[in-house]
Amino acid sequence: MPENEQIGMESFPDPAHALIVGGSRGLGLGFVRALLAQPRFAKVFAASREPLQSQDLLALAGAHSGRLVTLPLDVTNESSVMQAADTVRAAVSALHLLIDCAGVLHDGASLAPERRLADVRVESMLLSFQVNALGPLLLAKHFHGLLERAPRAVIANVSARVGSIGDNRLGSWYAYRVSKAAQNQVTHTISIELGRRAPNLICVALHPGTVDTELSRPFQAGVNPDSLLSPDYSAAQLLRVIDGLDRDANGRFYAWDGSEIPW
Ligand SMILES: NC(=O)c1ccc[n+]([C@@H]2O[C@H](COP(=O)([O-])OP(=O)(O)OC[C@H]3O[C@@H](n4cnc5c(N)ncnc54)[C@H](OP(=O)(O)O)[C@@H]3O)[C@@H](O)[C@H]2O)c1
Repeated sequence: MPENEQIGMESFPDPAHALIVGGSRGLGLGFVRALLAQPRFAKVFAASREPLQSQDLLALAGAHSGRLVTLPLDVTNESSVMQAADTVRAAVSALHLLIDCAGVLHDGASLAPERRLADVRVESMLLSFQVNALGPLLLAKHFHGLLERAPRAVIANVSARVGSIGDNRLGSWYAYRVSKAAQNQVTHTISIELGRRAPNLICVALHPGTVDTELSRPFQAGVNPDSLLSPDYSAAQLLRVIDGLDRDANGRFYAWDGSEIPW
């Protein structure tokens, strides 16, 4: 599907409000751009650890002043998540879409995907868990109230196919795989609790495909160029998936092309 084809997002009310965590670059920035192109999204909150360091976000904020709000938020620090929730609560009465794109695979230094058991490091496991698994749990804890107030709301946690246990045929990448599997369990578990209380709220895990970002760059050599998606294309595809979610989708795992992935 072409990148610039209308996405619609008509399943959401007008006006609607969205929060993109990890919106400073990569896929998250693609979501921010795509939502700003949808007039019904009256406020788009873009959060990351140091959002004002992102020249791309600053340029977008200049072009969409009043609609794009940048927020400092570190998913490994609960008080920072709480402060961000307070800021969003002060600006809007309800939140319709929360997309968590904050994720780590490598940091260019000590955190790197493991090839074998001997490469496993406790520090890498803990950092991966903190960002990839605990991050979405703390976001749900502090933002669910705002989401429950919307007539339709979606929590979309960006996961990865490698977090699927059912789909795991290659092994390796312990910290990333295990933390993404835990993230998937977080998504499924919050979907049960929140689904009981708020039938308007749908929680899903999403696989974005292999996307051309800093996260995937060191591993792109073996990727067929036709399979490497741009952040804008992947974000647009995932927004189409989100737009089409119904109650039955709550607690499930979908890829960028709309296909369902086994847990
Ligand atoms: N790229 C792919 O091929 C691919 C494939 C499958 C799944 N995914 C998943 O897609 C998501 C987005 O990945 P990407 O490729 O866009 O990665 P990326 O370009 O490396 O961006 C990662 C984002 O996460 C944010 N982040 C990292 N640590 C954070 C923290 N502690 N608190 C708040 N934000 C934090 C970063 O913001 P700051 O550093 O500015 O704070 C940045 O905005 C991740 O969950 C990733 O696992 C990506």
